[in-house]
Amino acid sequence: MALFTRPSDWPRRPSDCAPTDRPRNILLADPGFFQVEEAQNAHMTTGDGSLQQVDPAEAHRQWSALKSAWEDVGFEVEVLPAVPGLADLCFTANPTLVIPLPGGEREGWLARMLWESRRPEAALHEAFFQEEGIPIHSIPESAGFFEGGGDGLPHPGRHLLHCGAGNRTNPAAWEALAEKRPDMDILVYRQPNENFYHLDTALAPLDEETALYVPDAFDEEGRDLVHAAFPKAIPLKLEEAMNFAGNACCHDGEHVILQAGSPEAESALRERGFVPIPVETGEFLKSGGSVRCLVQGF
Ligand code: ARG
Repeated sequence: MALFTRPSDWPRRPSDCAPTDRPRNILLADPGFFQVEEAQNAHMTTGDGSLQQVDPAEAHRQWSALKSAWEDVGFEVEVLPAVPGLADLCFTANPTLVIPLPGGEREGWLARMLWESRRPEAALHEAFFQEEGIPIHSIPESAGFFEGGGDGLPHPGRHLLHCGAGNRTNPAAWEALAEKRPDMDILVYRQPNENFYHLDTALAPLDEETALYVPDAFDEEGRDLVHAAFPKAIPLKLEEAMNFAGNACCHDGEHVILQAGSPEAESALRERGFVPIPVETGEFLKSGGSVRCLVQGF
């Protein structure tokens, strides 16, 4: 089993892992029934403890602009239709984890979501990916909760997976995946900060050597692991991390789509040759989600 939590135990570095392709397609889901209906994470309530109020028309405008942003940078965008009762379906990062394999194939792993209200989303993803010819597998039920691409981030261009554990995904889920895929290195990060409840709110892989990351979202071992895997890691200041700059998404090694309003992150990206593309996802921030939560690359 190739699962590691400390850089000193990890015998390889990304350049030692087999090359993989980056995604060319993006799966989004229409936010037609998007709402904040229950407090699933620390972002979904206001100071007095009441639920955030979503403006559905504004949410739809923001999502349409995000869809155009992906198309403008050259991605093929597929859209799942909205389904009544599935308020979080638009967060397509979570119900599956699509892993690119050496040789160009991809495979999907179906989530077992913590919140019951989100569990029916998985069947819709399964049907979609089967239609696309991407095989879908499940982790044994005994491994517990597993929130797909929210907590599992493929390393850009390498057969290596970054994994968040202890919050929405049980450590046992990563152990089960490591048993099924002994050829893939799995790096597991603890998540001590409830504001960064999914790994994709704290770590945004950009290219083979670079990622945006939120130092406050990790313990010391986690930070060491980030630096071992991404020698050019860019730390985010807490204010911009709370604006979900760490939920940025880059699938081509160049264009970085991120929530608007993080000027330091944007200039750090420009200095390193990336092209930041700020978009407004304010309605989705009320649900604890932004750019990366709203896409599944495949
Ligand atoms: N309200 C949703 C939840 O808590 C937001 C999911 C955001 N997704 C993500 N990949 N971080 O499940």
